[in-house]
Amino acid sequence: MSKEVFYITTAIDYTNAAPHIGHAYEKVLADTIARYQRLCGKEVFFLTGVDQHGQKVKQAAEQKGVEPQAFADSVTEKFLDLWKQLGVVYDGWAATTDPRHKRVVREILQSLHDKGLLYKAKHKGHYSVRQEQFLTDKERDESGNFGPEWGEVQEIEEENWYFKLSEYRDWFVNFLNTHPDFITPSFRIAEVANAVAKNSADLCISRPKARLSWGIEFPFDPEFVTYVWFDALINYISFAGYLPKEGEGFPKFEKVWPCDAHVIGKDILVPAHGIYWPAMLKAIGFEDHEIPKLLVHGWWNLRGAKISKSQGNIIDPKLLAEQYGTDALRYYLMRDIVMGQDADFSEERLILRYNTELANGLGNLLNRSLNMAQRYRQGVLQPVGDGHADIEAERAANREAVAVYRKAMDAYQLHIALDAIGNIITRANAFVETTAPWKLAKDEAQASRLDAVLSYLAESVRLAATLLSPVIPEAATRIFEQLGLSAIAICVEPVCPALEATHKTGAAQPVFPRIETPETNG
Ligand code: MSP
Repeated sequence: MSKEVFYITTAIDYTNAAPHIGHAYEKVLADTIARYQRLCGKEVFFLTGVDQHGQKVKQAAEQKGVEPQAFADSVTEKFLDLWKQLGVVYDGWAATTDPRHKRVVREILQSLHDKGLLYKAKHKGHYSVRQEQFLTDKERDESGNFGPEWGEVQEIEEENWYFKLSEYRDWFVNFLNTHPDFITPSFRIAEVANAVAKNSADLCISRPKARLSWGIEFPFDPEFVTYVWFDALINYISFAGYLPKEGEGFPKFEKVWPCDAHVIGKDILVPAHGIYWPAMLKAIGFEDHEIPKLLVHGWWNLRGAKISKSQGNIIDPKLLAEQYGTDALRYYLMRDIVMGQDADFSEERLILRYNTELANGLGNLLNRSLNMAQRYRQGVLQPVGDGHADIEAERAANREAVAVYRKAMDAYQLHIALDAIGNIITRANAFVETTAPWKLAKDEAQASRLDAVLSYLAESVRLAATLLSPVIPEAATRIFEQLGLSAIAICVEPVCPALEATHKTGAAQPVFPRIETPETNG
């Protein structure tokens, strides 16, 4: 069976604290890509979820005085609510305490053990509680200390299970050299290559239960639980139907795998997704062409500083969506960042983008197009007909913009795709000014010209709303309702279809009311 489905995942979020704007960005990004693929007629499997095991969750639960499962469940609820509120529509939910996931993790551990790829050894060293890993000298800063990013560092000696990661080093160096499309953006490949060059150690994949019980128990050594990253990474296959069992309701693995895009932040590329994960898959038995592709995004910061709970500068996406609307937030998050780079979060920028591009841009175009159609033609539009060179020129420019949009979306360059849509809207608004339908309406001899202009305007609104629909699905639906037209199948010719018959539009209702603040009011 060959792969038929576009498979996209995100990182699964830790359930030690409520979601913030960074989590929201990643899920909306993946959701936008998933919606775009569906718009292109592709079947999509979009998996997201929560990382419920590990020391962080255990510690947070202890602070609250509740059981880790109850604590993880309560935080999970917050993520579920947020995705609903933000219109993040996924096909699979990966919660790592799900018994089906635990079964697959155990089966994988057993099979790696059977293949002789795991061993038990004693290790004495520095352990970062926050990052849940042993540290080596390369993690020390210039003054020889472990920096604050590692949190509390304890010196411990313990026996653990190790995965023979070092056996995959040569294979992986060769893989990196021969698979430049493994990571988008490609400049991040060098980061992984440098890290591999510096590290030749095996990977500790267990934690003794005596120290941490909140994890998946080893099948062949019940004194140990699985290291949270080893457990979490497996979600990408366990919830996609790997090692299936009758009636579990997962997709057929062969239909979805390999994953087209693991959408992750830059902080979890090295070592987890960029090194451990491909080596784990290779050891499990996957071929080179079955190694998934990584889409690595940058971070949202606040005035240049990292967003973090401990710094007290957390930004609550729930409050923002309540205040400005889901689509305003989604649009800003997709619009004001260059894929792969960091961006600074700013509410003023959110308002500015919304007011200029959605309220004054698309909203204005929609309003005037529908209002003029009502005023001059009772909402009845006619096909454009021949002999309108300016409309033909606009259409040619739109086709070019759609080509730019599609190429950019296929390459996950959303900021470029959104520029291309902005171009369509700006041109259509300028077209209203140059054709001045209010003047045409005064001249009976220009009746068919007015028909053509009004019809073309509806055509351009429909196109812009279609292209924006993956980013602002709710607003796009409302625009289609008002136009009385559906979204365009942009991957099918013609990409910018004209009206073929008489068509009646609805009345204009504001879709993007301006956000008024003391600043916007001058
Ligand atoms: N649980 C692990 C991932 C396991 S995947 C097998 C984890 N969780 S996390 O909650 O800390 O982060 C989840 C995702 O949110 C990561 O991809 C991370 O990069 C992303 N972000 C966290 N803060 C962010 C910003 N400030 N900006 C953008 N994304 C950021 O890591």
